[in-house]
Amino acid sequence: MNPPFSQLDSHGRLRHLITLDGLGRPLLEELLNHADALAAQPGRPPARGVALRGMTVANLFAEPSTRTRASFELAARRLGADVVNLDNALSSRAKGESLLDTVHTLLSMQVDAFVIRDAEPGVQERVAREVDGLASVVSAGEAHLSHPTQGLLDALTIRQCLGGFDGLKVAIVGDVARSRVARSAHRALATLGVTEIRIVAPRAMLPGAAEFPGARRFESLDGGIAGADVVMMLRIQHERGGDAGPADLAAYHRDFGLTAARLALASPKAIVMHPGPMNRGVEIASDVADGDQSVILRQVANGVAVRMAVLAHLAESRGAGAR
Ligand code: NCD
Repeated sequence: MNPPFSQLDSHGRLRHLITLDGLGRPLLEELLNHADALAAQPGRPPARGVALRGMTVANLFAEPSTRTRASFELAARRLGADVVNLDNALSSRAKGESLLDTVHTLLSMQVDAFVIRDAEPGVQERVAREVDGLASVVSAGEAHLSHPTQGLLDALTIRQCLGGFDGLKVAIVGDVARSRVARSAHRALATLGVTEIRIVAPRAMLPGAAEFPGARRFESLDGGIAGADVVMMLRIQHERGGDAGPADLAAYHRDFGLTAARLALASPKAIVMHPGPMNRGVEIASDVADGDQSVILRQVANGVAVRMAVLAHLAESRGAGAR
């Protein structure tokens, strides 16, 4: 059996960011506060800094990505790092090279941080054990299990738009069972003090009873979003397999698609969120995605700021460890 592994150092600082599990409220708030200071301001150029000057960040993405990958790259560059991007199809992993051989190859090129997305559970921890003390690992999405920077950017967006977390009702809607976004949002929001988290899904897409501790479960969209302050819609994760995906997308839209009429059941000031990519006309109607209550592009903007804050934190704790 593997010896225990911790993403935290002896001072409670992150050496890696693989999951939000086990991270306390003060650490999450520190990351959100830093990200908030770096967040995009209308009409102003993007925030920049030197926290990663001299460092090299490698993005290793074994699953498709638009927002997460672009924002990790921009975050690293805006803080002064060199960035190298590898994806499975175009790298030597397509020739059969193991992930750990790829990692050691990049370590010899003096990579300091590995940003990893993979469909297989446990890959980020495996690499972190291998490079511990030499480089940091940041998860950019682990199977259906976790997506920590997404959880943070969702929390930041909610805090900016609604002023805090006290007393909020947050509905997470759609293919919850197969969603790493839902798991990390639940973890972040529960840690930050949201007391009413609802998971809303057709029965086949509801997760097991032990997951999402404390969340209320709804099998009807109307009941699940009634009076909600936040409505977070999720894409159907067809690529994760299983038989939970609906055969009939029009029927899914009828029963679980967020339309303007349905949104009227939520709080009048409710915000609409979606991690992207959206399937318009399936889980969300186009006019809602583009409507006044949508904060979907703000989530995207906050993704860069959150990833800057996380990379800066890791650089700082590595620097402190080296001193
Ligand atoms: C999500 C992901 O990859 O988990 N997207 C993202 O990171 N913004 C959600 C999805 O693919 O549906």
